[in-house]
Amino acid sequence: MFSHKIFETNTLVLIVGIVITVAIGGLVEIVPLFTLESTIEKVQGMRPYSPLELAGRNLYLREGCYNCHSQMIRPFRDEVERYGHYSLAAESVYDHPFQWGSKRTGPDLARAGGKYSNEWHKAHLINPRDVVKQSIMPGYKHLMRPLAYDDITDHLKALRVVGVPYSDEQIANAKADLEAQAKGGDAAKPVEARYPKAKIGDFDGQPDRVSEMDAMIAYLQMLGTLVDFQKFKPELAHR
Ligand code: HEC
Repeated sequence: MFSHKIFETNTLVLIVGIVITVAIGGLVEIVPLFTLESTIEKVQGMRPYSPLELAGRNLYLREGCYNCHSQMIRPFRDEVERYGHYSLAAESVYDHPFQWGSKRTGPDLARAGGKYSNEWHKAHLINPRDVVKQSIMPGYKHLMRPLAYDDITDHLKALRVVGVPYSDEQIANAKADLEAQAKGGDAAKPVEARYPKAKIGDFDGQPDRVSEMDAMIAYLQMLGTLVDFQKFKPELAHR
């Protein structure tokens, strides 16, 4: 009781006591993190975006799709049953900035890849009500215009500055890879080698030209498909 009185009647002693108590909690929580090389679990299959997917991602930001769509499946049963395996930190390791979000006017898109056909996406983006009658999503028919991609090499270079491991080969071939992925055919073989699991076009139904629609659909079809959850943690894989 006596020592308690010292704290209660002396502000300075009380403050020092509080600081020491809080510091203990801080040390226990924070110090172990310094011994970890990375707090992000490494998983197999993650790779940087292909140039076409990256162009699509840039359009996703430009159009503000993130205002209505999150890309982060939380580790709760209702989310996992609806969307698939919960998101891993490693899955957004090459995202600058990440698209986790919290606003879900529309569904989460973290595992949108492979859920619908390219034709469905095209129809849906042009006029969502053509495929989902009650949809309140706006139409984006202007995505049918040609994609401006003269600066795609610079986008890859800029991402390399912030740590995305694009190789010299990937940067040197960025423009050719973008065109080949959008048009499909034999020319796209090296794209698949450089970017495993990349979906090869044609995406917008117009094989002879590269539209913004090609880029957007290539991006959507890739979302959440890179990590093989059957291999990674079979007991958690739902799709
Ligand atoms: C005003 C809010 C809003 C905006 C902005 C918006 N969406 Fe949607 N989106 C929705 C809603 C609501 C749905 C569910 C109804 C439907 O499928 O159309 C949806 C559905 C989707 C789906 C189908 C998801 C699924 O699992 O069924 C995709 C893919 C999609 N949106 C992509 C996009 C893209 C790409 C953009 C930006 C170009 C975008 N959305 C912008 C509201 C929005």
